Formats: sequence, structure tokens, C-alpha cells
Amino acid sequence: MPRLDTSCEFFSDNRPMPPPVDFSDSCIRRVSYLEEVNRASLQALQLVLEMGRQGTSLNRIDNPRTILAEFHDKIHQLIPWKAAAFYLMDEQTSVLNMALCRPMESAPHLSAVFDLLVEDRTMSLALHDESHTFVEVDGCEVLMHALNTITRCRGFFLGIPMDSRKSIPDTSLAIFSIMMQSAAQTLESYELYRLIRRVNSALEEKVEHLEEEMADRMRAEAEREKLQGQLLQAQKMESLGILAGGVAHDFNNLLQIMGGKIEVLLHTNPGGDFEAKHLRTVSKSIDRATALVRQLLVFGSKTEPQMQHIDLGQELKEIAGMLEGTIPASIRVELGIQNDTWSVSADPVQIEQIILNLTKNAVDAMPAGGRLAVETHNVTLDEEFVRSHMGAKPGRYVLLTVADTGVGIEPEVLRHVFDPFFTTKEVGKGTGLGLASVYGIVKAHGGYIQCASQRGQGTIFSVYLPVADQGREAKCDEPRKAISKGGNETILVVDDEPEIRELTLEALESFGYVVQCAASGEQALDVYQRDGKFIDLVLLDLSMPGMGGCECLQALLRLDPSAKVLIISGNAAKCQSKDLLLSGAKGFLGKPYHLRDLEAKVSEVLG
Ligand SMILES: Nc1ncnc2c1ncn2[C@@H]1O[C@H](COP(=O)(O)OP(=O)(O)OP(=O)(O)O)[C@@H](O)[C@H]1O
Ligand SMILES: [Mg+2]
Repeated sequence: MPRLDTSCEFFSDNRPMPPPVDFSDSCIRRVSYLEEVNRASLQALQLVLEMGRQGTSLNRIDNPRTILAEFHDKIHQLIPWKAAAFYLMDEQTSVLNMALCRPMESAPHLSAVFDLLVEDRTMSLALHDESHTFVEVDGCEVLMHALNTITRCRGFFLGIPMDSRKSIPDTSLAIFSIMMQSAAQTLESYELYRLIRRVNSALEEKVEHLEEEMADRMRAEAEREKLQGQLLQAQKMESLGILAGGVAHDFNNLLQIMGGKIEVLLHTNPGGDFEAKHLRTVSKSIDRATALVRQLLVFGSKTEPQMQHIDLGQELKEIAGMLEGTIPASIRVELGIQNDTWSVSADPVQIEQIILNLTKNAVDAMPAGGRLAVETHNVTLDEEFVRSHMGAKPGRYVLLTVADTGVGIEPEVLRHVFDPFFTTKEVGKGTGLGLASVYGIVKAHGGYIQCASQRGQGTIFSVYLPVADQGREAKCDEPRKAISKGGNETILVVDDEPEIRELTLEALESFGYVVQCAASGEQALDVYQRDGKFIDLVLLDLSMPGMGGCECLQALLRLDPSAKVLIISGNAAKCQSKDLLLSGAKGFLGKPYHLRDLEAKVSEVLG
């Protein structure tokens, strides 16, 4: 009951009192009605506020029925219902299907009412109405409302209120209408939200796919660049090898002539001690030049490795023993030799050269000490490895690694480490031929070498040597025959270079042999055809214009299968000495040689 406060100033002055308030029943009813309307309006506003919030929380909704359930709860606070149902419009068929009914048991009754309303076309009118519609069905009041957005119908509401139409305030009905529109809008937003989410995840998938594709492409590009680099490197090494090998071959011949002449002079000693002293100095310089040229020949794969089946682990142990004492104490040496290392077909002298060069470089890279690890492992290179390592071939290998914890190599330097004469060491400390010869040796052995390094961290060289082919073993450890002094046998010297011919002739004559000369393969065949029965040995140079040594050897053997031929060449790789021996030559001597080596070899072949 509303009360009047008379303590306020309005009533305290002396103005005449207003007429007494009429507290009749109708007035009281009016006030309580207004209070009720006010409460309903506040409640309705509260509901509208909550609806606004609902729109922002679509992401937690996984089903449109959840939206309808929430709206049902809210309209139930606004207008209590005996039964209420929401229908959703099927987008494909435009059929309205019941999606939610409260209480559940009233679903058949409401469905029957729904069918009746469809039949008498009330439904189709209500669907186009933006407001609510009251109808009476079988004596009970039914409230309908379409769930329409601006563009389309999303569903329908059908309910039987608890109270009669007259006792439902107009504000509640107006708010109910707003809520139905809001429900339609929320359903629309939910649909859009789902669509955006679908498009979004499709886009995300595409972006992911694109990212993967990009990463794949970048990987392929990096791989292509790496292979391109390897190809360029291989081509560069090939050209350098040809150049160095060619120059070294010619130098070899010149050194052979100079060395030979000086040996003859020293032998005959025409000028006395003074000249002999100078000749010995020149001879030493020639020896040093010869050693350099030999390394270049190795780099250009122009020397013939003396292959044997060797146990790399065993070789390594022996060389490590030899190195003891030469490596500073500040460097810790670790040997890791795998048990049962497969045997490789290799030249032990050249293998020693590889290990010595790599360990010396490692020691030089650790002036303040560090760790040097030398290991052997059995490995099998597969197609995948070969694809990303140009020049490698698939198969079984023994891997020799030499790793240090030294200064490392800058990428710019790394590109050149195998180049002949490339060195970062002070003048006189390095020739830059160490790794070039390692490279040449590995290549001549059919192997593969790679280097990985990180500045300040260290360097690792990996040398892959192919496993020996058991069927083609050729042990080269036959005992050497004793050298006998030359007799009066006749030797045919075949060489296109007049100085070498002359030098060899002089030397052989000084050893007591009878010598004939030929300047080409063709000429040699003529001489042999004519005087073959008197010729005990042919000294045949391999690299000659025209017929060439290999062809001449075959022709000589066709003329006389028992002919003794000793091959002489600085370029053995062109025609493998082993193959030459197999094809009938009796021996092989590499240039440049000392005359004493020539004497020994000739005497050995003549037996
Ligand atoms: N383990 C290593 N750590 C750091 N740098 C190295 C290593 N091995 C080689 N290098 C670099 O490669 C260059 C070439 O090496 P290489 O063995 O061919 O010649 P060198 O050692 O300089 O001279 P030489 O071997 O004739 O005495 C070296 O000068 C050095 O810069
Ligand atoms: Mg070196």
C-alpha cells in the first residue's frame, strides 16, 4: 500500500491544505497496476540487456537449440507458459521443424495445434507478421510469433500462456516481440559465425598448406643451391686438376732431364770438387721441385696408387704410434677404431699421406691445445646421401674422420681449402698442397671427401674409401728381386722427347747396355720388325703423339708375344699400370726417376 510522507517542507508552510487524498479501491488498484507495469518493464529491460550480452558469446554455442533454450528461459520469466515450442526453418526445404518444446510432454499437443494453424492458413499470415498473433484453438488461447530477420524467416514460436491475454501487460508483449526478433537475429548471427568459422578454418588450412609448400620450396631451393655449389666446386676441381696435372707432367719431364744430366755429371765428375758441390745443391733443389711436382701429379690424379687390401684401423694405429711425440701435449688425441673395419683397396703410402696431412692441419688449427679425434667406421652410402652429395657414389665405404676443436674455417675459405697452393699460413709455413693431394688421392681411390667446419668450434674432415672388391685383390707385397749389374743386352728406347731419349741412352750405355732409339710408336714397330730378334728390352714412354704407348705395346706383343716391355711415364693414370702389366708389359717406372731406379728396374725386368 503506498504511503504519503507529510514531514516534508511542502506540507509545513501555512498554505491551505490540499483536499484529502482519495484512497478509494479503484485508486489503490490503479497504483498497484502501475507498480506491476513498472516491475514488468524493468524486468523486460533487464532481459533485453542480457540478450545483448548473449550475442557476444556465440563461440561457446555448438547448437542452435542452445540459443532457443536460453530464449525460452527468458521469455518464461516475462510471460509464464503452460507450453511453448520453437520451430526452425529448414533452409533447403523451407519446412518448419519443431526444435524445442517445454515441457516435452506437450509436444504432441502443440504439434496438433501447429498442424491446425497450417491448415487454416493462420500460420502463413502469422509468418509474415512482425508482431505477435493471438488465436483461439479449441477454447485455449495460443500466442504465435515468427522468428524473422530483415531478409528471411528463421523459425517460429508457438505457446499457450498461463494467463489470459487480458492479464498480460502490453509492455511484456512488446518486449516479447523484441525478444523474438532478437532470437531470429541470434540464430542468423550463429549461422554466420559458423560460416565464418568454416571459411576461417578452410583458410587456415590453406595458409598452413601454403606455408608447408613454401617451406618445401625453400628447402628444395636451398638443396638446389647446395648442389649447384657442389657442381661448380667439382667443375673447378676438375679444371684445376687438368691444369695442374698438365703443368706437372711437363715439369716432370724437364726435371727428369735436369736431374738426369746432373746425375751423369756427378757420376763422371769432370770439374772436380768445386763443381760437384754446386751440382749437389742443384740436385737437392731438383729433388724438392720433384716432390712438389709429385704432389701436383697426385692432385691431378696422375699418379698410380699401388693398391693393396689394407685394414684402415690397423694403418691408423701404426701412424698414430708414429705421431706420438710430435703432437703437443696440450692436444688430447682420441683414436676411435671400429672393430671389424671392412678392408679397403688402397695405397698404404698414400693413406699415410692423407692421415698425416689432415692431422697436421688439425694440430696447426689448435695453437692453444684442444682435442683431436681420428676415427674409422663402416658406412653404407645410400641413394639419398648420393643425391645431396655430388660426386659420391652409393656403396660400402670405410669412413675416416679427423676432427679437431680448433679455430674452424670461414665459409669463404672453406670453398678453397682443396685448391692447390691455397694456404692461410705464413710464408714458409705451408705450401697449400696438403689438402690438394689428399683430394687427389681420395679421388684416385674412387672415394669421396667432405669438410664441415664452424668458426671457433672446429673442423671435421670425412674421407670415404670404398670397400675392397674381394674378387679383384692384388697384393703388392712380392719380394723385390736382387739388382744385377747390366750386361750387354740390347735395349730399344722409345720416347718422343729427344732430350729424354738422349739422357736415357747415355745412362743405359754407361750401365753397359747396347741402346737403340725410336722417336714414336710407329718407328719403334719398324725397328722391332727389323731387329726384334736382337732386342732384349723395350723402354716405352706412354705419352707420345701418334700411336701412343698403350697401342704400341699391343702391336709389339702381337709381333712378338715374348717381347719384354718396360713402361715409363709420368702420367700413369691415363693407362693404369696394373692394366698394362696384365696386358703384357713386364714393368712400370714412374717419371721423374733417379738413374739408379732405372738401372734397378731394367736389371729386374731383364732378370
Ligand atoms: N683443420 C683445419 N682447421 C682450420 N683450417 C684448416 C684446417 N685444415 C685446413 N685448413 C685451411 O685450409 C688451408 C689449406 O690447407 P692445406 O693442407 O692444403 O695447406 P696448408 O696446410 O696451408 O699447407 P701444407 O699442407 O702444404 O703445409 C690451410 O691453410 C688452412 O687455412
Ligand atoms: Mg696442410
